[in-house]
Amino acid sequence: MQKLIVIDACMRDRESRTEKILEALLAALGSRYDMEKIILDGEDYEAVGRRVLRERSNGYVPDDIVAQAKQIAAADRIIIAAPFWDMSFPAILKVFIENMSLFNITFRNNGTSFEGLCKCGKLLYITTRGMNIHTGDPLDGATPYIRAIGELWGLGEIMTVAAENMDYCTSEEADLKVKAAIAEGLEICREF
Ligand SMILES: Cc1cc2nc3c(=O)[nH]c(=O)nc-3n(C[C@H](O)[C@H](O)[C@H](O)COP(=O)(O)O)c2cc1C
Repeated sequence: MQKLIVIDACMRDRESRTEKILEALLAALGSRYDMEKIILDGEDYEAVGRRVLRERSNGYVPDDIVAQAKQIAAADRIIIAAPFWDMSFPAILKVFIENMSLFNITFRNNGTSFEGLCKCGKLLYITTRGMNIHTGDPLDGATPYIRAIGELWGLGEIMTVAAENMDYCTSEEADLKVKAAIAEGLEICREF
């Protein structure tokens, strides 16, 4: 069975609109994939600061971080679910990505340029935005970064499912936007 890694940065859990979209899509994908969920909550990963960088430069990376980066590199599919925060995604997701971005595991230098080492053929990024910001808008600081890390690691086709203007509409309208995003996501999942 193919391996799906889900990176869940939806901090509001059951209250989270992003999580609702994610759960509906996982219900559809569950039987087709060997699924592993990584739930980010802000405490688990250290930011790559001076000490961590110095350790890395000296050849030390903790075993559990290496093992997880290898799992990411071996995944056939990846889903990232993260609310739109401060015009991007929660910082814990960036911290996680920095932890997983390990030379000769998720990417390498092939002598002339970088080369992604991940097996992933498709990545789905799920988000909800409070403001009326569309995917790819200059104010969307999240999707371009996820696309860029997809290039670095070699994550294949990158797709985004987003609901927008969630904080400037009625709760009924917000529910309809979630439903529409689920429908769009389910369509993507047919071929995922
Ligand atoms: C800490 C924080 C920062 C946010 N920053 C933005 C922002 O910069 N732009 C925006 O459009 N919405 C912003 N929002 C609103 C969320 O994107 C919006 O409410 C989203 O639907 C939350 O997703 P969730 O329901 O999955 O938690 C922010 C919300 C929080 C809690």
